[in-house]
Amino acid sequence: MYPFLRIVIAVTVITLLAIFGCRNNSSKTSETLSEEEIASYQKTGSHLATSTQKVLASNLINAIENGGPVNALAFCNIEALPLTDSMAVELETHIKRVSDQPRNPQNQANKDELAYIKKTKNQLREGQEVQPSIQAKNGSVTGYYPIITNQLCMQCHGSEGSQIDQTTLTKIKELYTEDKATGYSVGELRGIWVVEMEKDVITDPE
Ligand code: HEC
Repeated sequence: MYPFLRIVIAVTVITLLAIFGCRNNSSKTSETLSEEEIASYQKTGSHLATSTQKVLASNLINAIENGGPVNALAFCNIEALPLTDSMAVELETHIKRVSDQPRNPQNQANKDELAYIKKTKNQLREGQEVQPSIQAKNGSVTGYYPIITNQLCMQCHGSEGSQIDQTTLTKIKELYTEDKATGYSVGELRGIWVVEMEKDVITDPE
């Protein structure tokens, strides 16, 4: 009876040590990325963010041409998220769009994202070139990529009195009761792409 209990305890302790010991080790190595690794992840994330942005923009332009911004709103609301999901599944990564002033509360930036947004807004204000950010945590690598406004964005994110037409504005307020995403001008930081990559996405041995 007693020897048996001792064995059970010993096995439990060894198992726990093995699990937590390994976890600690692997997360330690994952926190430190070489310069080459950073460059690699940066490129992979940038590719995903850019291609998703391109698909979104061309769909947006199409929808606006076929029925004005009000028609495009419905498209943004229903179609935009599944679209980014399918791109991400294809590349085995996770991608989302977040903002410090979100239209959809689901896109609210978290603490780390807000810190990057604040820093990038300051850089833009001072006329500096903005940079993406790559960091490793919990066994995965996360990239932040700035989303800057252009003329196209103004009809839904510009000033409420002049740039967004009344029909569109009414519809926006109806769909998004907590909308914070108006009042932007061209060349401002509207939000960021957050690309989460598995550690093994990069197979480059260098
Ligand atoms: C036709 C109207 C329309 C246009 C034009 C438009 N957007 Fe949006 N945008 C929306 C809507 C609607 C949402 C909310 C989508 C959702 O529910 O996730 C949104 C959400 C976003 C978000 C996610 C954060 C948030 O506020 O919820 C970003 C970032 C964004 N837009 C950037 C842009 C940029 C950059 C442009 C110009 C290239 C642009 N948008 C043009 C309607 C538009």
